[in-house]
Amino acid sequence: MAEVTVVKHPLVQHKLTVMRRKETSTSKFRTLLHEIAMFLAYEATRDLPVTTREIETPMGPMDAPTIDGKKVCFISILRAGNGLVDGMLTAVPSARVGHIGLYRDHDTLEAVEYYFKVPTDLGNRDVIVADPMLATGNSAIAALEKIKALKPRSLKFVCLLAAPEGIAALSEANPDLPIYTAAIDDHLNEQGYIVPGLGDAGDRIYGTK
Ligand code: URA
Repeated sequence: MAEVTVVKHPLVQHKLTVMRRKETSTSKFRTLLHEIAMFLAYEATRDLPVTTREIETPMGPMDAPTIDGKKVCFISILRAGNGLVDGMLTAVPSARVGHIGLYRDHDTLEAVEYYFKVPTDLGNRDVIVADPMLATGNSAIAALEKIKALKPRSLKFVCLLAAPEGIAALSEANPDLPIYTAAIDDHLNEQGYIVPGLGDAGDRIYGTK
């Protein structure tokens, strides 16, 4: 079973509650996602390898901690992943960013890929894949399969909300994958939506419905 971290910080939980409310505006929803994403990135990067480097402060030299290795890479599962990655970049502005386009076939709920662009040297990087809603897990599983083939130094998954079904499917396909989320909801409905959830994350971020 994958290791799942639920970020229960009161600020995250309060912001998530406001996001869930159906009367919350697009602009507020987007801002809150950005803020929560920052905290999720903070948790997901907690164990990044650190080394020391000699620097000069105005008072003299010191061996100062610095993140070891190449820049972290965030990979957004389009399109809602972009909302999450935007906020994660506030926590790690120098991160590299990849994009994977997958749409959910409405009949089968299976993921179909239409776009894939990630940094060429992914093999040396710590990669964090982002998608706000871990519902059936099909998109995440398909995305991770492609990314794993490029052998990143480490791999994690960040979402805003997860369904128990999505966590089970994702961990079965990726038993060593650390998952970070702000909440695990009750269940998925027949249309593959998380209940109680917050509706369609993409529509709520971009105001398309
Ligand atoms: N995708 C969404 O945007 N919302 C859900 O509830 C499930 C998948």
